[in-house]
Amino acid sequence: MCGIFGCIVGDGRAAPILVRGLKMLEYRGYDSAGIATIDGGKILVKKDVGKIDEIEERLLMSELPGKIGIAHTRWATHGAPNAVNAHPHLDMHSRIAVVHNGIIENYLELKRELMELRYNFVSKTDTEVVAHLISHSFSKHGDLLAATVEALRRVRGSYSLAIISTASPDRIILARRESPLIVGLGDGAVFAASDVSAFLERTNRVVYLEDGEVGVLTLNGLTIYKLDNMEGVSRKPVTLNWSIEAAHKAGFPHFTLKEIYDQPLTVREALRIQEQYADLIVEFLDRGREVFLLGAGTSYHACLAASYMFSKLARLVTYPVVASEFVENFGNAVGIDTVILAVSQSGETIDTLNALEYARLRAATVLGLTNVVGSTLTRISRAYILQNTGPEIGVAATKTFTAQLTVLAQLALRLARKRGKVSQSEIDRFKDDLHNLPQLVSETIKSVEPEVKSLSDVLSQAKVLVFLGRGLGYVTSLEARLKVMELSYIPSIALPAGESKHGPISIVEEDRNVVFTIPRDETRKLAINNVMEMKARGAKVTIVGEDGDSEVAELADHFVGVPKVNYLLSPIVYVIPYQLLAYYLALRRGLDPDKPRNLAKSVTVL
Ligand code: AGP
Repeated sequence: MCGIFGCIVGDGRAAPILVRGLKMLEYRGYDSAGIATIDGGKILVKKDVGKIDEIEERLLMSELPGKIGIAHTRWATHGAPNAVNAHPHLDMHSRIAVVHNGIIENYLELKRELMELRYNFVSKTDTEVVAHLISHSFSKHGDLLAATVEALRRVRGSYSLAIISTASPDRIILARRESPLIVGLGDGAVFAASDVSAFLERTNRVVYLEDGEVGVLTLNGLTIYKLDNMEGVSRKPVTLNWSIEAAHKAGFPHFTLKEIYDQPLTVREALRIQEQYADLIVEFLDRGREVFLLGAGTSYHACLAASYMFSKLARLVTYPVVASEFVENFGNAVGIDTVILAVSQSGETIDTLNALEYARLRAATVLGLTNVVGSTLTRISRAYILQNTGPEIGVAATKTFTAQLTVLAQLALRLARKRGKVSQSEIDRFKDDLHNLPQLVSETIKSVEPEVKSLSDVLSQAKVLVFLGRGLGYVTSLEARLKVMELSYIPSIALPAGESKHGPISIVEEDRNVVFTIPRDETRKLAINNVMEMKARGAKVTIVGEDGDSEVAELADHFVGVPKVNYLLSPIVYVIPYQLLAYYLALRRGLDPDKPRNLAKSVTVL
């Protein structure tokens, strides 16, 4: 997730407004930044790696002349954080500048084509492809809008784009697919940004671009067209009465809720992994004598889910291990044939890094799955893959968890195909299920929220909560417990349902709240037996199960139904009610879901 910003002013200079707006967008990405303005028939660019204030101090971006400009603050997805990969990106003739938020899925294929046409690339980004592609079309059309439209009709992926050119120094061309893009219409100045916080102090009259639209922004206003047929679109401005903070949350009351709602988009971005890195990771996983999956907290739960996916789909045995226990438990057994896939959204968790350092000293192969390019995990990994989620502001991991699972599922499928463990029809079916995930996640959020809100009233005074499940339902139960404990502080335990009779059932008494996760899979029958055991002891039973599973629903005192999903992908959908439950329990108990006590977003000290 990056932040883009563009503006045109009638009087004065655009640069100071652009730099100020970047500061407002910095929460969206902060590894590098830059601006480009047009003055005297030239595009002037200042960009660098680092925080916006540091770059401003070094380069004085706000001193650039010109009444029109674009700006960008970056969360790297393609290409390390450095000055060359920072946006804006120019075409070869320095007559077009582009800033972009999103992921161009087919950038490699387009890049190869453009290189054959002798276009020289200076960066490793997917965005630079767009600059050259527009330039290539522009050479034919001589019109920036027509060139942009022709170029974007070849692009697959997500984008919000702002494009300026010395050929048309009075306008910014805008385009949107999946990544947000909002226009601000002020007096004597116009703006376009990833979110309104970039320009809210100057105007609150806004126009939202929708998916598949392109726009031409000038001081006279905004003209919108549909990309696919250039049909005009008329859309009235709306007036937003938001604070800056509300703008950062896109109108949600808390980042945690916003990020739960972001999941259809972030799951889709996680489906846009870079093939060449996925195949490299799979190559190493397939070669290991033993494969450990290492993580802490929610990332450990992602590892646990991955172990089920790797064994069930690829017939590969892997060992999910809590990072802080790895050295003690397996340190002496690590050797040159050991492969470790570490999962860490921050890429900085000290428990995980310590374990990896120990393993590297014993010649193990370290692989990484992370959300942060340039993090320590990316620097110490033999190969790494990105989950493309963008910054997660809420302390509790929500969208980063479902993104991790989405990437791990794709690795499991590739591994299964490489090892010849799945048929073509199974591969096709799994691919369809992956493709449908964003829609399924969106449906789940909308369908369960009302039920979960009322459930939070029922459970908010619980003294303890017990979460049980079998198979991947157990993994989801672990993550459910962690979310609920983190945000509501209600003491909670999570166990394999099959373990309850080996001791823990002794805590079950009249009105004890027990929460089951029961996907419709091969563990369902046994899970139903476990439900009966609990009910026989007077427990109040809540069940998260499949919509329409009436046999299970009838057993529950409270039932939350989720849409049918491929069993191996079930944690991605079944975790959503629990993310929302944890959020609403926190509210019911008068707590701030974004800032739970005692916790940090990234645990970098032991
Ligand atoms: C999860 O909600 C917590 N914020 C925490 O358990 C987190 O998952 C853990 O600290 C691991 O962080 P990482 O993914 O950045 O390594």
